[in-house]
Amino acid sequence: MKIIQTVSALRRWRAERPSPEELGFVPTMGALHAGHLSLLKAAQAQSDAVIASIFVNPTQFDRPDDLAAYPREEARDLELLEAAGCQAVFMPHASEMYPSGASRVHISLPPLTGVWEGASRPGHFDGVALIVNKLLMLVQPHHLYMGQKDFQQTVVIRAMLEELFIPTELRVRPTLREADGLAMSSRNVRLSPAQRAQAACLYATLSQMHKQWQEAIPPGQIVSWAAAQLQGAPGCQPDYVQLVHGRTLEPVTVPLPPEEPVVALVAAFFGPVRLIDCLPMTDQTMFFA
Ligand code: PAF
Repeated sequence: MKIIQTVSALRRWRAERPSPEELGFVPTMGALHAGHLSLLKAAQAQSDAVIASIFVNPTQFDRPDDLAAYPREEARDLELLEAAGCQAVFMPHASEMYPSGASRVHISLPPLTGVWEGASRPGHFDGVALIVNKLLMLVQPHHLYMGQKDFQQTVVIRAMLEELFIPTELRVRPTLREADGLAMSSRNVRLSPAQRAQAACLYATLSQMHKQWQEAIPPGQIVSWAAAQLQGAPGCQPDYVQLVHGRTLEPVTVPLPPEEPVVALVAAFFGPVRLIDCLPMTDQTMFFA
């Protein structure tokens, strides 16, 4: 596996790829878990070559303490990427990705970037869109792999690909879960054992919302039930829980026909650790490319 640390080395690597070749790209912030490995596996199966990136992107953190506390496990990550059969990994220093310090370019896709995670973490998706755009300019992959757990991120990136005519296809893969349903996330390692156990309430609530949606309970009632459930869950400080349309991210307040994608989104703190999760209420397959 080739370890690439500079923009110029990445450009050289990209220019020397054989043609024709389908290139799959898995961008990450490291601290890899089974969810990332499932993205790599899908990329392997669907591409001729796979490149991953590890870059803890400062512009998508709204709080310096969150950036400082983000887990970093480079040596282990490299072993996992190598074992997963990656051809290359791009792991630049921040000065490579942001050579002029603060970026002179700003990407925002209101209203997709301003709601839910975007409302709670101002500027977060602008930072995500910017770094994903920079990475795509350099890697020029045919396929981009992302996990469904970060649902809003996938909606924002899909919209950016469309708006900017970026010739990369986004492939979203299902969320991987622990035995008690907790969505796999690099942030889970920061939970204390007690918080880790308490965090199972997120998926338990989402599952019940799914059941209620299938029973055609009115959306407003489902959301009120879920909010009360999370408020009362030990150790859980809910930020938001909502039913949203899977493309517009607008709240779903009335029952929709089954062909419309509906997703439940949730965000909550367990101590200092902020977790997000989501669950499609309608046919899962309509969310995956
Ligand atoms: O999902 C992530 O890990 C990050 O938001 C991404 C897409 C790698 C951009 O920094």
